[in-house]
Amino acid sequence: MATIELKNIEKSFGSNKVINKFNIKINHGEFIVLVGPSGCGKSTLLRMISGLESVDEGEIHLDKKLINNLIPSKRGIAMVFQSYALYPHMNVYENMSFGLKNEKIDKNEIDKKVKDAAKTLQIENLLERKPRQLSGGQRQRVAIGRAITRNPKLFLFDEPLSNLDAALRSEMRVEISKLHKKLGTNIIYVTHDQVEAMTLADKIVILNEGLIEQYGSPDQIYNNPNNIFVAEFIGSPKMNILKIGKDKITNQNIINIFNNKIKFDNYKFSDDIFMGIRPEHIKTDDSSDVKVDIKVDIIENLGFEKIIYTTLNGKEFRIKTSNNVNKDHSKISFSKKKYLFF
Ligand SMILES: Nc1ncnc2c1ncn2[C@@H]1O[C@H](COP(=O)(O)OP(=O)(O)OP(=O)(O)O)[C@@H](O)[C@H]1O
Ligand SMILES: [Mg+2]
Repeated sequence: MATIELKNIEKSFGSNKVINKFNIKINHGEFIVLVGPSGCGKSTLLRMISGLESVDEGEIHLDKKLINNLIPSKRGIAMVFQSYALYPHMNVYENMSFGLKNEKIDKNEIDKKVKDAAKTLQIENLLERKPRQLSGGQRQRVAIGRAITRNPKLFLFDEPLSNLDAALRSEMRVEISKLHKKLGTNIIYVTHDQVEAMTLADKIVILNEGLIEQYGSPDQIYNNPNNIFVAEFIGSPKMNILKIGKDKITNQNIINIFNNKIKFDNYKFSDDIFMGIRPEHIKTDDSSDVKVDIKVDIIENLGFEKIIYTTLNGKEFRIKTSNNVNKDHSKISFSKKKYLFF
C-alpha cells in the first residue's frame, strides 16, 4: 500500500497542452478510477506516473518520495495495458517471469512469485502455453499476473477489459475487485465503462480536457455532480437535462414547468436554470411533483426494465422503468429538485 500525490502536473505535446496543473492525493490502498472523454489525457497521466512519459512541470510523489526522475523499473509501479503487450514467442511462465529475470532475482524466488500469481488468477494450468493459444480473458489474466509478480506499490490499468466481450468483462471486473481486496495495493484504473467506474472505484476522477471536473466517491459523483458535464457523464442512460428558460419563472421561487406551477422554498431564481432528471428517478404515473403527458417514441425492452424514449423541449428524453407502459403515450412525473444547475 502506498500514498500517491501529483502536484501541479503539466504536459504538452508541441503546442497541445494535454494536462494542466493536475493535482491529486491518493490514500493508502485506494482504488481510483479515471474517466473522461477520448483524448482528455488519461493514458498520458498513467504514462507519466509509470515513467514511460516525462512530465513538463510538477511533482509525482510515491510514499512521499519524489519519483519524477526515477526510471520506470525503479518506481515500484506496474502497468497493465489494453493490448496486454505479451511476448508472443514466450510461454505464460516466461512472460510472467521475464521482468524479474531482468532484475537478476533468484530463480527459486521467481518461481514462487510466478506460481503464487498464477494461483491467484487461476491460470496455473496455462503456464506452458503461448499467448496465441489463450483466449482474450486468459491473456488479460497473464498480463495482470505479470504485474502482480513485480509486487508493486501501485498498479496502473489502462482500459484493461475493453477488448473482452460483455460476459467476460463482468467476470474479470469481479476478479479485479477481489484482487484489490486480497492484495490491498493501490490501483489507478482508466475505463470508458460506467459500470466498471461505479463498481470498482473507491474514488472516481472525472477528467475533461486535462482538468478535473470532480473527484469523489461513486455515491458523491452520482448523487451530487458538480456540474452538467459530470451529471451527464456518469449514469446510463445519461441524465436528462431540461433547460427552464427565465420566461418560465413566474415568481422568484415559482417556476412553470410543463404547465405545473412548482414552488421552490429555498431558492430565488433570476436566470435560466437547468434541471437534471435521471431516467431511473422518473415515475410512470403522476405521483411526483412535475407531471407531464408524453408521447412514446420508442421503448427498448431490456427484460427486467425498459428504456422509454420521448421528446421534451425538442430534445430526447429518457425514462427507465420496470413498469409496463403503453406503447404510444404515458403519464410521467419526477421530483422537482433532485438536481438543479444554475
Ligand atoms: N506522443 C504523443 N505525441 C503527440 N500527441 C500526443 C501523444 N500522446 C498523446 N497525444 C495527444 O494527447 C492527448 C491526450 O491523449 P491520451 O492518449 O492521454 O488520451 P486518453 O484520454 O487516454 O484518450 P482515449 O480515451 O482515447 O484513450 C490527445 O490529444 C493525443 O492526441
Ligand atoms: Mg487512452
